[in-house]
Amino acid sequence: MSDIQKKLANLRAEINYHLYRYHTLDDPLISDFEYDQLMNELRRLEAEHPDLVTPDSPTQRVGAEPLEGFEKIIHPIPMTSLGNAFNDQDMANWLTRIERLLPEGVTVADLEFVVEPKIDGLAVALTYENGLLIQGATRGNGIEGENVTANVRTIKNVPLRIPTSPNGPPAPARIEVRGEVYMPVADFEKFNQQQLAKEKKVFANPRNAAAGSLRQLDSKITARRPLAMFSYAVGYVEGAEIRTQKEALDYLSALGFAVNPDILHTGDFQEVLNFIHTWMERRNQLPYDADGTVVKINNFNLQQHLGVVGNAPRWAIAYKFPAREATTKLWEIKTNVGRTGQITPYANLEPVNIGGVTVRQASLHNFDDLAKKDIREGDTVVVKRAGDVIPQVVKPILDLRPAGSQPYQPPTRCPACGEPAVRLGDEVALFCINAACPAQLVRQIEYFVSRGAMDIDGFGIRVGDQLAQAGLVTDIADIYFLTRDQLLSLEGFADKKADNLLAAIEASKQQPFERVLIGLGIRYVGGTVAGLLVDAFPSMEALQQATQADLEAVEGIGPRIAESIVEWFKRPANLALIKKLGRAGVALAAVQPSGKAAERSQSLAGLTFVITGVLPTWSRDQATEFIRQHGGKATGSVSAQTDYLVAGEKAGSKLTKAQALGIPILDETGLRDLAAPMTKT
Ligand code: IVH
Repeated sequence: MSDIQKKLANLRAEINYHLYRYHTLDDPLISDFEYDQLMNELRRLEAEHPDLVTPDSPTQRVGAEPLEGFEKIIHPIPMTSLGNAFNDQDMANWLTRIERLLPEGVTVADLEFVVEPKIDGLAVALTYENGLLIQGATRGNGIEGENVTANVRTIKNVPLRIPTSPNGPPAPARIEVRGEVYMPVADFEKFNQQQLAKEKKVFANPRNAAAGSLRQLDSKITARRPLAMFSYAVGYVEGAEIRTQKEALDYLSALGFAVNPDILHTGDFQEVLNFIHTWMERRNQLPYDADGTVVKINNFNLQQHLGVVGNAPRWAIAYKFPAREATTKLWEIKTNVGRTGQITPYANLEPVNIGGVTVRQASLHNFDDLAKKDIREGDTVVVKRAGDVIPQVVKPILDLRPAGSQPYQPPTRCPACGEPAVRLGDEVALFCINAACPAQLVRQIEYFVSRGAMDIDGFGIRVGDQLAQAGLVTDIADIYFLTRDQLLSLEGFADKKADNLLAAIEASKQQPFERVLIGLGIRYVGGTVAGLLVDAFPSMEALQQATQADLEAVEGIGPRIAESIVEWFKRPANLALIKKLGRAGVALAAVQPSGKAAERSQSLAGLTFVITGVLPTWSRDQATEFIRQHGGKATGSVSAQTDYLVAGEKAGSKLTKAQALGIPILDETGLRDLAAPMTKT
C-alpha cells in the first residue's frame, strides 16, 4: 500500500466510525463542523486520486449511476416468512406444537425466547466479504431477490466496512446480515409533507415509503430518502461461531450494525406475553412503525431441530398488532365549522373496523389536501387510525373508482349559516367570517367552558348547543347573565341541574385572568402563550394597548402570534365582548402573588420546561400555570435551552428528542418535588 492509499484508508475508517457514532449509536464524538472537514479532506484527496476511490468510501453514499433494471439474486439460504398469531391463545398453541417436537430431555421450561418488534419495512440481506459490504439484496419472494447494493450503500446506518469501531471483533471471512430497512415515522411524516408541497407522490405509510425508496433504479434518489436499517439475523457466517439469537444480536451490534434496543431475552413465557402487550399499547411511542412482535426460540440447535414447515420456521412466530389501516367506501364529504370559523371537510364512511374500533367518519384535513389527493364521493379509500388521533382518509384507490365520478367541489357558503365562505390571505383553509354564525358560537362556548379554559363543570357541548339554538346566548359573555328561569325553559333541565350549572358558572368568575385569556380563543393563544402574555401584560387593558412590537419583544411570542393578537383587539365585537365579561365580574387582570405564595414562587426561577404527553392529574395548562407560579418558564419545543422535560403517558417525539439531547426527564411528581423540595417527607 502506498502512503496515499494508507492515508485514504485511515481517513475512511475514521469517517465511517464517526458515521457509526452518529447514526447507529446516536452518540457523536465530534461536531458536524469537524465531520465536514474530514469529509472535505477525503473528497479532495479522492478528486486528486480518482483511481483510488474504494466502495467502502463514505463519499460513495450519495448514490451511483442509475440502473436499467435490477439484477436478480438467488439467496444462498432462503429468506423465510413467519407464521402469525393474533392473540394469546394462538401463542399458547404455538408453544404446544413446539413442545411435542422437542428433543428427548428438553421441556418447554428449558426454552429461552427472544422477542423483537416486527419492524414494518422491507427485509434485506447484506453480504460482507472480509469486512467489506459487497452486496445488498431485497427479500423478493424469499428465494430470489433484487440486487440493490448501490441503494443499500446510501443508508446511513448501514456499515460499508465492518467492524465499524476499532475495538469491535475482527471481521469474519464472510457474513450475510439480515434485517429490515425502514423509514422512521417522524422522517416519514416530514418527507410526505415535503412531497405534498412539491405536488409529488405521497406514500400511504412508512412501509411503502421505505419500499419505494429502496427500490429506486436511481440510487441518488434513495440517498436523499431518510432510510435506516435494523439488523435482526445472521443468514450465515464463516469465521465466527454463534449459538443463539441473543449472541447473534450482540455480535451484530459489536460489528457496528444497528440492532433494535427494544428487545427481550427471557426464559419466562408469561414475560414474553407481557412484553408483547406492553409494546402493543405503546406502539405509538416507537420511533418506527411496528406491525407486531417476533418471538424466536433462542437456541440455534433447537431452531435447527424444529425446522421449517412450508416457508415459515416452527421456531419463530409473529404476534401481529391489530391493523391500523383499512379500506372502505367513502359515502359523502361533509363540512364542519370550527370556533374560528374555519370550515373543514370530513368523510362519512361505510363503517369499518380498524384495530378493534368501528370507524364511521374520518378527517379530510383541508380542501387543498383533498383536491391534491383527488378524493371523491363514492371512492373506495384507505383509512388510517393511528393512536388517539382522529381517523384520516389517506388516499383513494383509483382502480376501484366508479365510472362517472366527479371531483369534489368545496362549498362556496358556510354550511351552518349560509353566508359566503372565504379564503383569508395565504391560508389553505376556508372561513366563515360571519361573527353571528351559530356553529362558531357553539364551538366558542364549548372552548370557553372547557377544562383548559374556564373549566365550568356540567357545561357540555349539548348545553351550548341548546343555549345558542334558543337564542339565550349570542356570545360567550352571555352565559354569565343566564337566569334560573331561562335554564328551566330548556329541555332536560330540572331545578337541580339548573342550580348546579348556575353555581359552576358563578364559581368560574374566580378563575385567574390567564384562563379568561385562553377562553377567548384568540388564534395561537393557548396555555403556554397566555402564560407568557399575562407575565408581560398583567391586565386586559395592558394587553389591548400592546403593539405588534411590544408583543414580539416578549420571549416566546413571534410575529405570527403577535399579529393574531393585534388583529383580535381591532374588532369592535371583541372589544364589546371584553366589556361585557368585565361587567359580568370575570377576572380581567392578574392578581399579584403575595406573602407565602410570592416567596414560594421563585423555586423554579431561570428554568425552562417543556411539557409533553398526558400527565396523571394535571392538564397541560395546569402544569404550565404551576411552573409559572414558581417562577419557571414553559415552552413548546425541546431545544438545548430546555432544562427539564416533564413527560406523561403517550409522550412522543419530544421525549425522544429530549433523551437524545440528554435533557433530564421528570414526571408530574418530579415536577412538584423540584418546585417544593422541602415539602417532601
Ligand atoms: S425474523 C425466520 N425478525 O417480518 C425469521 N423478521 O414475515 C424471519 N420482520 O420479511 C424473519 N422485523 O421483513 C424477523 N425482528 C424481526 C423482524 C422481521 C420485521 C419482517 C421481515 C420478514 C417478515 C417475516
